[in-house]
Amino acid sequence: MYNAKISGLGFFVPENVVTNDDLSKLMDTSDEWIQERTGIKERRHVIKGDDTTTSMGVKAAKIAIERAGIDKDEIDFIIFATLSPDYYFPGPGVLVQRDLNINTVGALDVRNQCSGFVYAISVADQYVKSGMYKNVLVIGSELHSHGLDMTTRGRGVSVIFGDGAGAAVISREEDTNKGILSTHLHSEGQHAEELSLIAPGMGKRWVNDILQDNDPNDTSYFPHMNGQFVFKNAVVRFSEVIMEGLNANGLGPQDIDMLIPHQANLRISQFVQKKFGLSDDQVFNNIMHYGNTTAASIPIALTEAWESGKIKEGDLVVLAAFGSGFTWGSAIIRW
Ligand code: COA
Repeated sequence: MYNAKISGLGFFVPENVVTNDDLSKLMDTSDEWIQERTGIKERRHVIKGDDTTTSMGVKAAKIAIERAGIDKDEIDFIIFATLSPDYYFPGPGVLVQRDLNINTVGALDVRNQCSGFVYAISVADQYVKSGMYKNVLVIGSELHSHGLDMTTRGRGVSVIFGDGAGAAVISREEDTNKGILSTHLHSEGQHAEELSLIAPGMGKRWVNDILQDNDPNDTSYFPHMNGQFVFKNAVVRFSEVIMEGLNANGLGPQDIDMLIPHQANLRISQFVQKKFGLSDDQVFNNIMHYGNTTAASIPIALTEAWESGKIKEGDLVVLAAFGSGFTWGSAIIRW
């Protein structure tokens, strides 16, 4: 058995900054409301034609591969986490294989929304630990902005989400005390519809239904979120899964050097920080600048934390996520 470590990190966000005031010109909202409830000041939106979920992922991946100090052809496997793929099918994993011109390695798409990156890291970890692969490219990328209802009707959701991508190379580590120590994954499908996008799908709303009805009041193809219910579950599950990861390694909250929570809402991160008695230096948040970028939020935050020197060799880094499904998970990493 080997261990798996994060050997390279990168992120990409579109240049176009959209402030809360910009949104208040499109819908009945305000900078004050958004900041007070979510902590978000601005987010990035792709200008149509500039980028796609895949192209942002590719840009982030190129940086991560370079920093890992490997050639693209040393990538043995690709895992792509997103809820906003370029196409209904095929998924973006194969588009990355094509656009990076990598050998015909396997490409897997992960559909676990805000927990997507933690799920993807967990899969990569198993492949590397077992010895099957040496270098796995993991990408989380989202282009939300063009799928949101940018009117007052959709304001409860659309002010929260932003576009961007993050990537990590997961590589073989001979020292079994270093790298990813453990990952912990959960789901509770009972609440699937509480944070969901129903159509088009082969369940409740078929494409043909939408075309036939041609109903301007149809919101089935916009994301739906029961915000307060999601919030209440998130604070409980974040705390549980962080504690589960720490316990599995004989560690406690005092051992955490850096917690990177999925950037769902600053109030959720602050609740978790308080619960575990962590200082501002022990928790990294950047939701103020990017909003919630779903599967991209952890790799973007992890990259920024690492780039700014906040993560050093030997540090205990904890990744934790919660989101649609519901799904949640954590990764405990010795850097
Ligand atoms: N601007 C202004 N008012 C808004 C608004 C906006 N963008 N969005 C909703 N409102 C209004 C509502 O219409 C409602 O008005 P009413 O009282 O007249 O009906 C009021 O604000 C309160 O709405 P509510 O949904 O109860 O607000 P909230 O305090 O729960 O905050 C969220 C909403 C979405 C910010 C909050 O529930 C949240 O962050 N939930 C978790 C979301 C999350 O983390 N999602 C990602 C998980 S991965």
